[in-house]
Amino acid sequence: MIRTDLAEIITSFAKALDLSSNGIAYHHQTVALIALAIAEQLEIPGHDRDTIFLSALVHDAGIRTQGEVGGLLVFEDKNPFNHCKQGYEIFSPSTLLHSLAHIILHHHDRWKGPNPSGLTGNEIPIASNIIYLADRVSALMHREEFVLNRSHEIVKTIVQSVGTMFNPLAVDAFVEVAKKDSFWLDVQTEFIVESITRKKPRQMVTLSVQELTELVSCFSRVIDSKSPYTHMHSVTVASVAGFLARKLGFSEYEQAMIKVAGYLHDVGKIAIPDSILNKPDKLTDQEYSIMKKHAYYSYALLQNIPGLELVLAWGPTHHEKLDGSGYPRRLKGGEISLGARIMAVSDIFTALIEDRPYRAGLNKEGCLAIMKELGDSNHLDQLIINLVEQYYGSLLMIKEQIFPITAAAQCGYPKF
Ligand SMILES: [Fe+2]
Ligand SMILES: [Fe+2]
Ligand SMILES: [Fe+2]
Repeated sequence: MIRTDLAEIITSFAKALDLSSNGIAYHHQTVALIALAIAEQLEIPGHDRDTIFLSALVHDAGIRTQGEVGGLLVFEDKNPFNHCKQGYEIFSPSTLLHSLAHIILHHHDRWKGPNPSGLTGNEIPIASNIIYLADRVSALMHREEFVLNRSHEIVKTIVQSVGTMFNPLAVDAFVEVAKKDSFWLDVQTEFIVESITRKKPRQMVTLSVQELTELVSCFSRVIDSKSPYTHMHSVTVASVAGFLARKLGFSEYEQAMIKVAGYLHDVGKIAIPDSILNKPDKLTDQEYSIMKKHAYYSYALLQNIPGLELVLAWGPTHHEKLDGSGYPRRLKGGEISLGARIMAVSDIFTALIEDRPYRAGLNKEGCLAIMKELGDSNHLDQLIINLVEQYYGSLLMIKEQIFPITAAAQCGYPKF
């Protein structure tokens, strides 16, 4: 069992989404704070209010393309249902996040309809009504203009759509909270991090390994969907690392945690522009520097989550090298734990057998030749490379069971 803070996990993920090139700066955190203020004004009870806040923090996780972002920046949102559905599909497999998934599915439903979801008026969850309103307020805020100079205009625009786009109850509550300067100033860029820290609920939960795995799988789906070439990367790294950890005598608990570390090792990639992640050619030095940021971001995003200390120690360290030439912290030799070494080998092994924009996945000889070079140059742990060689067939089967290699290049973005 793992004792952790569900709200801290979701907040960290929201921060990752807000770092994304696909995101709008601080969009998720802004919408969460606005939605919370409306929910408080409506005197929605504590647990439901927390659920609204947490749903708002990840409401646009289903967005895949820059085009979808553009469509949502205009007040009259165009074709938003696709990302609502994708958001639902990301979170609904987790029993813990199922209620969030349902709210996210309806977060662009117009009060009067018609909606592709089939619901109108009171059939739509009020949590979704509130997030929709908060989301549209966020779309009307222009970061380059001081918010108090725009607030009257924003309120006017929202009120004009009462009963058509928005639930009248939610609009009344918004009009009330919008009278306070503090409501607007809380979501200013200078204060938003403090506002989120101050207002986020603390939700200490005791999770089974299964529940934690389901939860982090949701996030790995978002990470991996950033690129058709890595669409199953984190899942595969997790399974490969779990297999190698078992062979190296890790306990059942440690095997589970190294799998969780595998799911999350590249969480910082959410912040890397798609143009770099999916570049069909080799990266330039400048692009490579940007790509390297992901390991630091993974560390920064995981560091405040209680109960995931092993995940923090083993996941974001996957680009460290034994000779001290890795990143982001240039750890060396004994500073790199066995778990971190397993993660590094699992990541490289998986990357080598996967297709990339600039090359097809390597065969056994090609893969092992590169891994041996990395062992000889004291980048990776030779003992673990030997295990990869010994169990190559089993490891390849893990990959093929997760997703057939032959289909990988054709499938594009995942259908969850
Ligand atoms: Fe949205
Ligand atoms: Fe949004
Ligand atoms: Fe990585």
